[in-house]
Amino acid sequence: MSANDQTKTDPLDAVMRYHQETKHHFSHFARALGYLDWANQPDPFRRYARAPPIALPQLPPDAAPRSPAYDDLYRAGAIASVSVTIDSLSRLLEHSLSITAWKQAGNVRWALRANPSSGNLHPTEGYLLIGQVAGLAPGLYHYAAREHALERRCDWTSERVAALLQDFPRDAFIVGFASVNWRETWKYGERAFRYCQHDVGHAIAGVRIAAQVLGWRMLVLDGASDDTVAALLGIDRAADFDGAEREHPDCLAVVWPADRSVASLPLSLPCDVTRLGWHGKANRLSRDNPVRWEIIDEVEAAAWKSSTEERRVEWHPEPALASPGNAGDARPRAGPLIHQRRSALAFDGKTSISAGGFFTMLARVMPRIERELSRRPMPWDAVPWEPAIHLALFVHRVEGLAPGLYLLARDAAKLSLLRQATHPQFDWTAPPGCPADLPLFFLQAGDARALAAQLSCGQDIAGDSAFSLGMIAEFEPRLRRHGPWFYRRLFWETGLIGQVLYLEAEAASVRATGIGCFFDDPVHEVMGFADATFQSLYHFTTGGAVDDPRLTTLSPYE
Ligand SMILES: Cc1cc2nc3c(=O)[nH]c(=O)nc-3n(C[C@H](O)[C@H](O)[C@H](O)COP(=O)(O)O)c2cc1C
Repeated sequence: MSANDQTKTDPLDAVMRYHQETKHHFSHFARALGYLDWANQPDPFRRYARAPPIALPQLPPDAAPRSPAYDDLYRAGAIASVSVTIDSLSRLLEHSLSITAWKQAGNVRWALRANPSSGNLHPTEGYLLIGQVAGLAPGLYHYAAREHALERRCDWTSERVAALLQDFPRDAFIVGFASVNWRETWKYGERAFRYCQHDVGHAIAGVRIAAQVLGWRMLVLDGASDDTVAALLGIDRAADFDGAEREHPDCLAVVWPADRSVASLPLSLPCDVTRLGWHGKANRLSRDNPVRWEIIDEVEAAAWKSSTEERRVEWHPEPALASPGNAGDARPRAGPLIHQRRSALAFDGKTSISAGGFFTMLARVMPRIERELSRRPMPWDAVPWEPAIHLALFVHRVEGLAPGLYLLARDAAKLSLLRQATHPQFDWTAPPGCPADLPLFFLQAGDARALAAQLSCGQDIAGDSAFSLGMIAEFEPRLRRHGPWFYRRLFWETGLIGQVLYLEAEAASVRATGIGCFFDDPVHEVMGFADATFQSLYHFTTGGAVDDPRLTTLSPYE
């Protein structure tokens, strides 16, 4: 084998190469077809033919289980657990993966969902593996978003589910995620694998936040191998996907009512799917076969997680109910807020937000509770790895803060590393009024509106907002430490941050948009990053939205 071949087959090198090759540059974009093959556009809705569908109840907003105040999602112990029923499961999916509106322009209609998605292509599919619930037999179900229904993919018995979940709290069940990567490669070509991972992160946060609405907890079973995920979700069953586009396994997560006490949880599952009865055949999504991108095949293989870790995580019970939310109060409710979440298509270039509001938004993406470092606030308790993403912020219109460049160190222990890696002339001072426990730093003053827009592929939404940001990953050192599969987790973490900030924007009566299109290395130059220790993975922007009056909004399920 030549040295060249060896480099080619080393998974870490393959992942690093993928990342490097799929950067956008001022001079050229990452490779894609260069046009949209509309005739071959993938269907955004997967169905399994002959898998018995079970319609989930369409619950009016005020029907039980009723939504708590949005703020209470972030007050530990403020939301009492509801029981796991078909109604509460319906709410879980309604608040995380369901359609929330149809939009229409002329004769064209498209669905929007609780979870955003790059290009609105929605590669992420959701699954549920659950024991006996009234109205639902034990088994594996695929979530059909268009119908808000569960398709029964596999028959389990209550005993088998109980055996699988014996180390988890009573009434626990599994949510699984898998991605039809083709939905994104159809439009975005080689960069698409990144976008699929962002979307997984948004979906994980969507389900975690929806679980919180119900007083439930969630933990990603990060020790499970991708082979386990694929086997449990049945997406490794070649015959069921004959002629249909395949799904790539993402992850499994356990969800349970928070009032079931538990001291520790395993991070993996024993996988035994022998002797189970399967139903259904996946639908074909595109007219022609997917366009193959060699580098996507390579990164899928290189970032595949083949290891299983048997480690357990300690679990810290919720403190006793601090002060229960008042059902009658006027604060915005979580459910309607989740439903109204939309991406801004344009910003007004005027709206500012208060410094206090800005600090609150940033506090919500902090993965640890100061002085109680072992306990993570929602939704960061769902991901068991150490935080790896920091925020480089372009402040345009935050009252009381000088416009310019700021940095939020989501893990204060990485501060010196960040300081070493960035330009030496940066200030690193605390902004006025910044809470002492928020590691936010002012780096450099300046009007960054044009720069932010230019860096985000010339998209005005990054400059016309109140602030925009780049999510900075601890990159090469973390990939070397965990393995190339951690590449996907880095993007998932950015998606979680994005989902929190989307809802924070709605709560503050502004709006946000995730930005996957940006010029990678020019962002690194602004920060002073000279190597791959840190890399920007996802951009985001928040401000006063301008709606497009040509669009009509239709209800999600008629
Ligand atoms: C990972 C990701 C990347 C995105 N990138 C962009 C972008 O570069 N520009 C943009 O205008 N919108 C972007 N969006 C917003 C999507 O277009 C939007 O989520 C999708 O159209 C669905 O609309 P909704 O968010 O209103 O539900 C992105 C969204 C996600 C989740």
